[in-house]
Amino acid sequence: MSAINAVVDLSFEGEIAVVTVDSPPVNALSADVRDGLDGAFKAVSADAKAIVLICAGRTFIAGADISEFGKAPRGASLPAVQDAMENAAVPVIAAVHGTALGGGLEVALCAHYRVGDAKAKFGLPEVKLGLLPGAGGTQRLPRIVGAKKALEMVTSGTPMGAKPALAAGLIDEIADGDLRGAAIAFARKVVAEGRPLKKVRDDSSKLGGDAASLAPMFADFRAANARAFKGFEAPEANIKCIEAAVALPFEEGMKVERAEFLKLMGGLQSAAQRHVFFAERAAAKIDGLPADATPLPVAKVGVIGAGTMGGGISMNFLSVGIPVTIVETKQEALDRGVAVIRKNYENSAKKGRFSMDEVEARMGRLSTSLDLADLADCDLIIEAVFENMAIKKEIFGKLDALAKPGAILASNTSYLNVDEIAASTARPESVVGMHFFSPANVMRLLEVVRGARTSPRVLATAMAVGKNIGKIGVVSGVCHGFIGNRMLGARQAEANKLILEGARPADVDRVLTDFGFPMGPFQMSDLAGLDIGWSAETSKGETVRDRLCEAGLRGQKNGKGFYDYDEARNRTPSPVAEQIINDYAAEKGINRRDIDDQEILERCLYPMVNEGAKILDEGMAQRASDIDIVWINGYGWPVYRGGPMFWAEHDAGRENIAAALERMGFEVSQRLKTGW
Ligand code: 3HC
Repeated sequence: MSAINAVVDLSFEGEIAVVTVDSPPVNALSADVRDGLDGAFKAVSADAKAIVLICAGRTFIAGADISEFGKAPRGASLPAVQDAMENAAVPVIAAVHGTALGGGLEVALCAHYRVGDAKAKFGLPEVKLGLLPGAGGTQRLPRIVGAKKALEMVTSGTPMGAKPALAAGLIDEIADGDLRGAAIAFARKVVAEGRPLKKVRDDSSKLGGDAASLAPMFADFRAANARAFKGFEAPEANIKCIEAAVALPFEEGMKVERAEFLKLMGGLQSAAQRHVFFAERAAAKIDGLPADATPLPVAKVGVIGAGTMGGGISMNFLSVGIPVTIVETKQEALDRGVAVIRKNYENSAKKGRFSMDEVEARMGRLSTSLDLADLADCDLIIEAVFENMAIKKEIFGKLDALAKPGAILASNTSYLNVDEIAASTARPESVVGMHFFSPANVMRLLEVVRGARTSPRVLATAMAVGKNIGKIGVVSGVCHGFIGNRMLGARQAEANKLILEGARPADVDRVLTDFGFPMGPFQMSDLAGLDIGWSAETSKGETVRDRLCEAGLRGQKNGKGFYDYDEARNRTPSPVAEQIINDYAAEKGINRRDIDDQEILERCLYPMVNEGAKILDEGMAQRASDIDIVWINGYGWPVYRGGPMFWAEHDAGRENIAAALERMGFEVSQRLKTGW
């Protein structure tokens, strides 16, 4: 084997040249990899009969090196490498294992043949980074899998497995086991049979039609996905490129792809989505954790409370094969909770996500009990009862007495002081917050609350457990509402003021949904229920919410809230709510006025950003990007706006926000002026 450079090798198996990329972790197409490939294709001697391109480590090339984006270009260009492959004098065979993604698949599409490992995946996920495949992917992929399939792949970013890839002609053979051996054998076969040097670019026969005949397909696709693509720039740019592949000769299509790619690459949306990619990965890193803080094994989980949260939390574990015992105080509550879990699973099975056998397998891992003592052998116990400190303390006191030594005691509290809860046990080092978001089986966010005395291993375990059940864990310190709800509180306080000063709830909601949130604060209140934490006995009519509840408005659950709901849950602004708000404002002597959309937006979002900065001031979040991850995954902040802290830094402007908040009379975090 001879090294071309530090990351690419060239070796020979008889008459077959083997080019190997070895650039951990994912063989991304960095300048070094491109230089190495360029050098290797130039160095292949004239007597080689074929060339196999393969990767070491866990995957084939997983794409362009995202960390190079936005920096000055260096090294061989990707198109030069692709030209060298496509125009090689002998057949080039790409041998793919792991994930051939983005630029990786685009490189493989420049080989004349492709052999895939049985578990390999092939995809163009650029759309998830606010981009489109910029190395010929939008022009070559439809020439293999057809325009329709390519359209689905580039706009969803979802990869294809080896079997469908073989059926679609994306790969020529599946290798079971020894990929290198299979690719070399395949290369020998190509040589022996004198097969042609097949260039994907030259064959338009599989596109599935021409511009005229495929026009309705494109129109239908746009219409069917309008809602999912709303707000995003990249999906439409991807569609345009596939249209170009159908309508134009290859080279012309490439020009469209290049122009659209550069537009997206220079835009704010892609910068935001690339930020989110790295932010997600950064969130997993826990500051100041000693090297020996390895996660503890979690083979059995206990959940206290079979309500919406407890049930959803349990499903996460049942779904990945971990047995769960749910404890409730009443049999009816247990039965109801179990029935909901079963129904959720059955609905998923009906949608074809898994089989009915799988439903039974998951339900088979669930046991129930009315006695906390049945949690004695659990490695992790998650309390998910309602938000009441006295009850939580009582439960943790009991758990302390019965849980096995070393068991992790977690609370799903969304606001309360985890240190106070921990103090009701003699083992505060085992106590941690695990704050799930509703519906807990669906929402990806998990706030892991690090108490003052939570041990490093317990913290590491909570994060590892989160990853295992498919969540994105973010570490938060102990403060009221942690990261997410604390910032939500800042937004809600201002939204509440706005409706007294003259904005209508529907205006506030519209401004925020136009910004990209799936719903606004008052739609959210209606959905959650206006009477959460309210009781008729203690209500003093002191807030708008008290008065709405006193008037029998409870939100979506009774079809009356800030909006009236019909049976199909269509909403119209409620005149009753409006009257109550008007009366309340008059009583308090508040002058109502017209409030424009810009003011609504600024007053809702700027205080949130300020609260985020204070959270950083106090060390309650490890890094600004963690706050972005919380808001994107827990509260529907639009991913193409990168999260509140990214948005403040790169869009609205930190200093603008600081100045506006000062005008509004807020106490402004210094970080907002100087940087995170
Ligand atoms: N560029 C730079 N770094 C990358 C990278 C890439 N394309 N893909 C992954 N990494 C880094 C991650 O940041 C992470 O770094 P860290 O350890 O320092 O946090 C490390 O590689 C491992 O990544 P994961 O933790 O994500 O590892 P997994 O095994 O869970 O997943 C993967 C592997 C499926 C390859 C996943 O990393 C992934 O989806 N990567 C992105 C793939 C992608 O989007 N490719 C398209 C890039 S854009 C492009 O190609 C443009 C072209 O059209 C011109």
